[in-house]
Amino acid sequence: MARVIEFGQGCDIPAARRRPSAAEARDLAYNDEVKAATDHLYALVRDFITPMEWPAVAPFVFHINKLKAAKNAVILAHNYMTPDVFQLVGDFRGDSLQLAREAARTDAKVIVQAGVHFMAETSKILCPDKTVLIPDTRAGCSLAASITGADVRLIRQRYPNLPIVTYVNTTADVKAECDITCTSSNAAQVVEHIAAEWDVDTVIMVPDEFLARNVAANTDIKIIAWEGHCEVHEKFSGEDVRQIREAHPGAIVLAHPECPPDVLEEADFAGSTSALSNQVKESGARKVVLLTECSMSDNVAADNPGVEFVKPCNLCPHMKRISLENIYDALLTMKHEVTVPENVRLRAKAAIDAMLALGPPTRAPNFKVGADVYAHVQLI
Ligand code: 13P
Ligand code: SF4
Repeated sequence: MARVIEFGQGCDIPAARRRPSAAEARDLAYNDEVKAATDHLYALVRDFITPMEWPAVAPFVFHINKLKAAKNAVILAHNYMTPDVFQLVGDFRGDSLQLAREAARTDAKVIVQAGVHFMAETSKILCPDKTVLIPDTRAGCSLAASITGADVRLIRQRYPNLPIVTYVNTTADVKAECDITCTSSNAAQVVEHIAAEWDVDTVIMVPDEFLARNVAANTDIKIIAWEGHCEVHEKFSGEDVRQIREAHPGAIVLAHPECPPDVLEEADFAGSTSALSNQVKESGARKVVLLTECSMSDNVAADNPGVEFVKPCNLCPHMKRISLENIYDALLTMKHEVTVPENVRLRAKAAIDAMLALGPPTRAPNFKVGADVYAHVQLI
């Protein structure tokens, strides 16, 4: 026989609880005004953000755009930013050379660097009168961390008659000790230019060993290299490429030149992040393997509907520190301002200006790929 259970007063049934979204925590509501101003943008990120997530994202986009207008600010977004930052709030997008050129050109008073710290320093070096903000000061770079200004001074003592080229992925202190900077889109052009200017057949290149080796395969100039590595690209190997090719016959393989040479040996094309992006379009390929940072494939995929992307990517933990949330906070509170001591800035600027004076790359910014990428490089 069923027992009759008498209900007492019991305790209150808690209302359904949900943690407030990051937007709600900042009192940013998804209201009619936000909806009307942002609805048309959703199509840009529909592959990455679900309709359910959009009300938590749209208020950031709306308020970031309002703050940009109020503070005369621009956002320089590197190709490795996540699609929400890259597509929805980036005013200028591109590789590190393109972003440096935009920083030098912009009339805005404030630059928010949606990238890593060395990129923000480059902007500040070029634009001392502008306020340059980095949304998270921990957004570093393993290459920039691999060498100091003091290291370069020792290299100079050892090789007083050779020019020193530094990849832009370095601190202002390092740039200040070098003769010229380069990026992955103009490295071979810079090496040849500085060798001719100094009338030498050997150039020192810091800090990326693999970029130096990959450049050496593209020029007759001999290179003495530092042993720094990108923690993202050093993880790829030639064996990865062979396995991917077996699993995806017919796909074209594109790689960043920060990858080890055995990757370029197996790849179809190598170039800067923007060169990779252009190559996807120009090749007309239907299936593409991008060996670089993960968000790059997402951003290139958004611009190339119908192309299938295989994504054996690695995440850059530094680039991934930048988010819509901390871009909003940076613009609201004007933090974190990047500064460079004037004596360092002037010397670092001379090295960057020497690169910018060369103009856009004079030769196709692609690296040698295939069997003969190995070139002799001496390590410091
Ligand atoms: P790009 O100059 O090709 O944009 O590369 C910058 C970078 O940090 C790649 O890891
Ligand atoms: Fe530095 Fe590599 Fe990250 Fe580029 S991907 S910022 S080189 S750690």
